[in-house]
Amino acid sequence: MDKREPLKIPLHVGLIMDGNGRWAKKRHMPRSFGHNAGMNAMIKLAEHASGLGIKYLTVYTLSTENLQRPEEELEGLFGLFRNYFTTNVKKLYKKNSAVKVIGDLSVLPQDVQKLLRDGEDNSPSGAEFTLVFAINYGARNEILHAVNSAVENGLKLDRDGFENLLYTRGMPYPDLIIRTGGEKRLSNFLAYQAAYAELYFTEVLFPDFSPKEFDKAIKDFSGRDRRYGKIKKEDN
Ligand code: FPP
Repeated sequence: MDKREPLKIPLHVGLIMDGNGRWAKKRHMPRSFGHNAGMNAMIKLAEHASGLGIKYLTVYTLSTENLQRPEEELEGLFGLFRNYFTTNVKKLYKKNSAVKVIGDLSVLPQDVQKLLRDGEDNSPSGAEFTLVFAINYGARNEILHAVNSAVENGLKLDRDGFENLLYTRGMPYPDLIIRTGGEKRLSNFLAYQAAYAELYFTEVLFPDFSPKEFDKAIKDFSGRDRRYGKIKKEDN
């Protein structure tokens, strides 16, 4: 890549925040300690991403599968949601940023559901940046949910109609999906929306995934040749 060329900034980045448990284990601490450090890393990254001009950052905070984790770990995560959505979220609003939540919230504790909904409702309209929390989110469930609601309403859908039934309605597709923690898979994250996303995998455990590490992913993305199944003009 020509160093003088400006970086291409993705509109929407998806983030699979893996490695909190291992990060904590290395320090002989409980998993909740890792999730807490992960939340702090996420807060810094959201601020950094908005500064770069990214419009949407979708963070995978809890998958449908994660909901089978021990009660103690889940309670720790719910505590982090309570914490984030009562205090930190206000700092985001002040910067003309919004929060949005995707996933099936119906199984979460009532007070957490309310905090999440209030978080969305109190967000500034016309925000320049949106932090999207995927909570009890699973792409398979999202697609099934959309299909069932089309069937129930007797609808035959085109692509726009289908996409309007997804949790991500109105959002652009993710351009880049980053996964920390060394695994190289999507794990049921935005499977439909990520059809043409660029993927970036790093061994770095999420609590150590700093804005500097994030910049490496953006630089890598910037050098990718996105052809969407077509061929380059010069090869025509
Ligand atoms: C996966 O790492 C991570 C999660 C299941 C939770 C991610 C949540 C956060 C980073 C906190 C987000 C912010 C709020 C406001 C809740 P893992 O625990 O599976 O890691 P491991 O693979 O090392 O065990």
